[in-house]
Amino acid sequence: MSMAPHSSMFLCLLLAMLVASVRASPAKHETQFEAAEDKFLRACCANTTDAAVCYNSLLPRARTFEGNFVKVATAATIIAYEQLRSFDAELRIILRRGAGVGKYMANVLGSCVSYFEDVALFGEDLVLATLWRLETVDGRKGKHAKFDLDEVNTCVGEVASSTNLLCIEDFIRLGKEVLVSPVGKIMVAGNATVTLYGEIALDLEETLVPAVNGTLNVLRSCKKNPFLKRVVLTSSSSAVRIRDDAQPNISLDEISWSSVPLCESMQLWYALAKVFAEKAAWEFAKENDIDLVTVLPSFVIGPSLSNELCVTASDVLGLLQGDTARFSSYGRMGYVHIDDVASSHILVYEAPEAKGRYLCSSVVLDNNELVSLLAKRYPIFPIPRRLNNPYGEQSYQLNTSKLQGLGFKFKGVQEMFDDCVQSLKDQGHLLECPL
Ligand SMILES: *[C@@H]1O[C@H](CO)[C@@H](O)[C@H](O)[C@H]1NC(C)=O
Ligand SMILES: *[C@@H]1O[C@H](CO)[C@@H](O)[C@H](O)[C@H]1NC(C)=O
Ligand SMILES: *[C@@H]1O[C@H](CO)[C@@H](O)[C@H](O)[C@H]1NC(C)=O
Ligand SMILES: *[C@@H]1O[C@H](CO)[C@@H](O)[C@H](O)[C@H]1NC(C)=O
Ligand SMILES: *[C@@H]1O[C@H](CO)[C@@H](O)[C@H](O)[C@H]1NC(C)=O
Repeated sequence: MSMAPHSSMFLCLLLAMLVASVRASPAKHETQFEAAEDKFLRACCANTTDAAVCYNSLLPRARTFEGNFVKVATAATIIAYEQLRSFDAELRIILRRGAGVGKYMANVLGSCVSYFEDVALFGEDLVLATLWRLETVDGRKGKHAKFDLDEVNTCVGEVASSTNLLCIEDFIRLGKEVLVSPVGKIMVAGNATVTLYGEIALDLEETLVPAVNGTLNVLRSCKKNPFLKRVVLTSSSSAVRIRDDAQPNISLDEISWSSVPLCESMQLWYALAKVFAEKAAWEFAKENDIDLVTVLPSFVIGPSLSNELCVTASDVLGLLQGDTARFSSYGRMGYVHIDDVASSHILVYEAPEAKGRYLCSSVVLDNNELVSLLAKRYPIFPIPRRLNNPYGEQSYQLNTSKLQGLGFKFKGVQEMFDDCVQSLKDQGHLLECPL
């Protein structure tokens, strides 16, 4: 973590004053308190004071995208400020009692207290208001989001560094032995909790924009090539099919986009990332006159090149071994052979008339239809007969007539699973005779 304490401190102070002067309702964060995220975060960080350990424990469960991420970052920020406030209160009590801490130590504690009050705690309202703005989809768009993130980073950076650098360092100059004194123990514990949550908040805030930015970085590189003819981007059918259409048996085609509010409310961060990334790519391509074509595969099934299984392959392996949890959560889903995903990319790259988005999916099946088909095909595996569909009745289809219009033919569901099962056997993940 690098910082220029004085300039950033000043900026933070200035911004806080500006906001404080226009702010109408004071206790906004009481109504918006992120209770679930707060609980989640405290559970992840319960056994450690090491931000990296805590971060690694929370990241897989926080999922990694957008609104949810901001909420966890907000919870971390709230806790960091709360810890700083109670640390500050504790130091004030010590100072008021004056109980034998000595003149120099009292000076150090006094400067900590005034520093917390003047700088670190002063930014709290500003930071929380900014984070709440970033929780909305609109708040995360455009230039202002970058400004907001920088601002939050500066202020939370103050919190994370203020205890460690400005208090503890001065304190330690009194001699290592002060750290084991009663006041020293309070200082160390205060430092540990404040910096822990401050650093978690910073880590989260710094990783906020990766999916969109990653896609744009690739397109920026493509743009540098003067001979560039066309860019083919892999998106996903999840950028199309997460919708709450009332029509039964709706046939979704390339005009459709997944609903952002629905993805957020169902916490489908992968789909959300795909929607944002693909939309950003289209915007960038238009602004920079790039001939962009996107391919939107559904669930990709087939042989695996690597012996390390990707998520999809290990989900299929799980199903063949009788584990229903993950496939149950997929509900109704499109399936496509990996070979078709590869050859459709080549086709749309080479066909001069290819334009826009291309859904790439062979068949759409309810999870129940899939398992009964697989159970019949591979009777030696303990494949369940029924699965629950957490989304209730679904009946959408994916209309792939656009890709087929370029002469494309899909491999069937049997072939993709046969190839997948064979590859799982070849790689030793699946025994020939499991029973
Ligand atoms: C923390 O420790 C408790 C008790 O050992 C354990 O139940 C819990 O799962 C641990 N939490 C994390 C995040 O490791
Ligand atoms: C204060 O906390 C930080 C972060 O946990 C840690 O690196 C540092 O060693 C702590 N300082 C002391 C004196 O405990
Ligand atoms: C996005 O990528 C650009 C170019 O690499 C970089 O300058 C910018 O800081 C990145 N933005 C974020 C928020 O990571
Ligand atoms: C929707 O499709 C299912 C199965 O394919 C069929 O049984 C049902 O009648 C269809 N409903 C409508 C309204 O077309
Ligand atoms: C699929 O899309 C094509 C082309 O837009 C259209 O002609 C066809 O009617 C659609 N099929 C269904 C089942 O909606």
